[in-house]
Parts: sequence; C-alpha cells; structure tokens
Amino acid sequence: YMQGKNGKILVITGTRPEIIKMAPIIRVLQKNDVPFSHAHIGQHYDYNMSQQFIEELGLPSPEYFLKVKRNSPSLQTSHIIGLTQKLIKRIKPSLVLVEGDTNTVLASSLAALKQKIPVGHVEAGLRSHDLRMPEEHNRRLVDHLSAYLYAPTMLAKMNLEFENVWGKIFVTGNTVVDAVMQHMPLAEAKSNIIDKIYFDEYALATLHRQENVDDFYTLRSLVKAFVNSPIPIVYPVHPRSLKRLQETKLWSLLFTSNNVQMLPPVGYLDFLVLLKNSRMVITDSGGVQEEATAPLMRKPVLVTRISTERPEAIKTGFAFVVGTESENITKMINYLLENTFNPPSFSPFGDGKAAERIVNAIMDELVNTTFERL
Ligand code: UD1
Ligand code: UDP
Repeated sequence: YMQGKNGKILVITGTRPEIIKMAPIIRVLQKNDVPFSHAHIGQHYDYNMSQQFIEELGLPSPEYFLKVKRNSPSLQTSHIIGLTQKLIKRIKPSLVLVEGDTNTVLASSLAALKQKIPVGHVEAGLRSHDLRMPEEHNRRLVDHLSAYLYAPTMLAKMNLEFENVWGKIFVTGNTVVDAVMQHMPLAEAKSNIIDKIYFDEYALATLHRQENVDDFYTLRSLVKAFVNSPIPIVYPVHPRSLKRLQETKLWSLLFTSNNVQMLPPVGYLDFLVLLKNSRMVITDSGGVQEEATAPLMRKPVLVTRISTERPEAIKTGFAFVVGTESENITKMINYLLENTFNPPSFSPFGDGKAAERIVNAIMDELVNTTFERL
C-alpha cells in the first residue's frame, strides 16, 4: 500500500461539523476496505455535540475517543498537539486526514507534520479575509502545511494557488452535500421534531461564532433581531452561546419572548428536518450556509456576519451577508418574506460525490508516492 508506513489513514475529528462532514468519507473508506482509524479528540464533548452524531450517522465507534482539557484556545491547541502526537506515534499512519478549520484541525496537523506524516486537508482553500476569526488563522496555517488539499470549489482552489501552497490540490466538492443527500430520507422518516415546534412558519436560527457571541453588544443586537423578527424564530442554542446568554440578561429576554423557541442543540436528523421546513435560515454557521444550498433544501440564508468564506452561496443567490445590526437583519427578513426566492437547482458546493473523489485521490496518492517531499 504505502512504502515505509503501515498504509493506514488516521481520520481525526473534534467538533460537531467535523463528524458530519467526515461521515461520508468514512463510509467510502469502509466500502473500499481502505484501512483507517478514527480518533475523536473531544474538543466538543457533550453527548449532543459529539457521540450523538456518530450514532445517528451510523458510524463505527471511533477507535480512540480522547478527552481534551477544557481550556483557553492556546492551551486547548497545545493539549491536542500532545494527544495527537502520541496517537500518531502509536498508529504510524500513512496519512492524517482532517476537515475544516477548528483548533483540533490545526493541532493535529501540526502533530502530524512534526512526525513527517503527510496531512490531507478536507475543505481546503476557504478564506473569509476576516482576521478576527480563529478559524481563518487555523485554515490558512493548515493549508500551508498540508500535502494534499481537497478544495470544495474552483474558487477555493484559486485561493490556494494564489497563496502558493506547496501541497497537491484536488477540486472535490464539499462532503456536506453528500451528507444531506445521504440523510434527508432517513431524517424525514425518523424525526418528529416538527411536532414540538410551536409555529407553522418560522425562520431557523443558529449562532456560535466567537466574534458574534463573545461580544456583548453584537450578541445583544442579534438577540434583539430574533425577539423583534417579523417571522417567529426556532433557535437551537450552541453551548458557547448558552454560556454567554446566561452570563447576561439576554437569556431571559429570549426565554420570555413569544417570538422565539429555544431548543438545546438538536441531532443531525432533527436539524435537517427543521431546515427543510423553515422559511429561511439566519446563521453564522459555515456548514449551515452550505447545507441550505443542497438540492433537497434550497433555503435562503441570512449570514449574520460581515464576511463569509463561502461566497459561492452569495453568488448563486442562496445567501446574503447581512451583518449583525438588528435593523438590517429585520429589513432582510422582510425582503425575503416579500420576494420570491428562486435559486439554482444545483448546489455550488458539489453534487454529493465529494467523498468518493477524496477517497479516490487518497488511494491514488498513497499507492503512487512515498511522500519524499516531506
Ligand atoms: C468550535 C470551532 C468552530 C466551529 C464550532 C462548531 C475553534 C476555534 N472553533 O467553536 O470553528 O465552527 O466549534 O460548532 O476550533 N462547549 C460545551 N460543550 C461542548 C462543546 C463546547 O459546553 O460539547 C462550550 C465550552 O464552554 C467551551 C465553549 O463551548 O469552552 C467553546 O467551545 P470550543 O470547542 O472551544 O469552540 P466552539 O465555539 O464550539
Ligand atoms: N447542526 C446540528 N444541530 C444543531 C445545529 C447544527 O446537527 O443544533 C449541524 C448542521 O446540520 C451542520 C453543522 O451542525 O451540518 C454545523 O455545525 P456548526 O454550525 O456547529 O459549525 P460550523 O459549520 O460553523 O463550523
């Protein structure tokens, strides 16, 4: 398989979206009998942010389920480097496969590089050009240390070429489209979340971006937008936001509002059904911006940020960057309520075959190279 190493792929996940987006890849690895180990690092550790997704997505239990210490971002990152370096030393994989832009991704990629193990970066080449974002730091660094870059779109590939990354670039699509296609039928058959929703028509909302929820004034503005929204809001609350809301009076503002239904973080099948039945989605999430463009979804997205690393969703008319001012968000909600929405029938993020392309690229490379560049 791979000269010198044991031919195994070490798939690393750490947070909710990493599990969801790695799931289609894990399935193709299984189907092709490619030897792999899955390690979940435990950056997200609550059941409803981690294990629940492994179960719902029907993934085999990760061989390693680690517990990273809950700490400041830099200590969290250094702790993950320590954990993954031990794991890599033990497994001696031929490739470490990471997805996205979290601290788990940066730390495990560094641990791999320092042990001369090549890194494959799924979802490479995204750029928000917003240097307040830890995700922008992480993805830039990881793209420059990866041997293989699986860019979801041509634009992502162009970003990588512009920066002269040294790894090999493949344009594959984003596995989130695969995930929606693979799970939507099951979600519609199994989920009964709609029975629990108070409103017939609603906007689905999620918030967790550090630059939004850790800044009191921004968070207050977003909460105001929800409370005053011309359409009721269904809001599954991310644990980071829960903490921030509870530290302030914003929690009771939301709690006492008849216009907002808060939920704990919901499972993937419930989330797909909530999204499918919504009139629109108001979010700062990366994955949700992409999911809304899947042919089975086709929902308008208001991105409550001043930038996006997913401009493909804007260009195709699915998403609108609305900033964080309450009045602007209300204006755009009204705009969407009053105008017909007719986006393309295809997703700019892929056709549902991204995982197959990624695994094919991995198999070709592992057979053909000894990674001498490292
Ligand atoms: C992380 C990622 C972000 C990604 C998001 C997905 C980084 C820098 N950020 O953000 O890119 O979009 O995951 O959701 O890697 N917490 C819990 N239970 C959990 C997980 C988190 O209570 O299971 C709380 C803890 O108080 C923790 C805080 O949320 O300190 C933040 O968690 P962390 O993983 O550091 O960042 P996220 O905001 O989740
Ligand atoms: N999601 C979920 N339950 C929720 C909120 C989100 O299953 O309550 C899923 C959603 O379908 C998407 C992913 O989580 O696939 C997005 O993760 P998140 O917004 O936490 O992170 P990001 O994509 O911004 O990194």
